[in-house]
Amino acid sequence: MKPLNEIIAGRWSPRAFDAEKPVPREDLLVILEAARWAPSCNGEEPWRYIVCDRYFDPNAWDLAFECLIPGNKIWAKNAPVLALCLADSLSESSDAANRFSHYDAGAASENLALEAHARGMAAHQIGGFDPDLARQSFSIPDRYECLSMIAIGHPAPPEILDEALREKEIAPRSRKPMETRFFEGSWGKPLLEQEP
Ligand SMILES: Cc1cc2nc3c(=O)[nH]c(=O)nc-3n(C[C@H](O)[C@H](O)[C@H](O)COP(=O)(O)O)c2cc1C
Repeated sequence: MKPLNEIIAGRWSPRAFDAEKPVPREDLLVILEAARWAPSCNGEEPWRYIVCDRYFDPNAWDLAFECLIPGNKIWAKNAPVLALCLADSLSESSDAANRFSHYDAGAASENLALEAHARGMAAHQIGGFDPDLARQSFSIPDRYECLSMIAIGHPAPPEILDEALREKEIAPRSRKPMETRFFEGSWGKPLLEQEP
C-alpha cells in the first residue's frame, strides 16, 4: 500500500501534555478554524465548542476539568486547553431534529485534531466525562448535546506519566484489519487489493 500522508498518519491521542507550554492564541484560532471548515449536512454547522484555556480563564478550565472521570483527570490535568464539543440536536432553519449533528461535530473535531497535529501540537478527544455536569456548569441550553471534551496542547515526553499510562503511551498504535471494516460492493465481502 502507498504511504498515508503525514498529517493523518502522525495524528494521535497522547496523554502526556506539557503543562508549561500554553497553546498560542494564534494557533488555537487556526485549530478552531479547521473545525469550522468541516462539511455538514445542509451546511448547518451544528457543532459548538466551549474553549477553556487555563492561561486565559482558569475558572472555566477548572469547570471543564471537574467534568472528567478520574481516569482521564490523571493525564488531562496537564492539558492547557480543554474544549467541550457540543452538537445542536435541532436544525437552525426548521427546528426539526438534525440526525446528522453528531456526524458533523465528529468531522469538525477530527479537523481540529489534524490541524493541531500539523502545528506540532495534539488534540485528545475524551468521552469519559459527565455530560450532565458539563450542561449544568456551562449553562448549556437543552437542545445542545455535550459530546466530548478535547484536550489540546503540546505533547510531552512519556516519562511524565505514571507507569501504567506510560506503557499505553509508548505502545505501538494499531488498527483493526481492513477487511473487517471495508467491504467491496456488498456486506462482508473483502475489499479487492488490486483492480480486477
Ligand atoms: C469520541 C471519543 C472518545 C474518546 N474517549 C477517550 C477517553 O475517555 N479517554 C481516553 O484516554 N481516550 C479517549 N479517546 C481516544 C481514543 O482512545 C483514541 O482516539 C483511540 O485509542 C485511537 O488512538 P489514536 O487517536 O492515537 O489514533 C476517545 C476518542 C474519541 C474519538
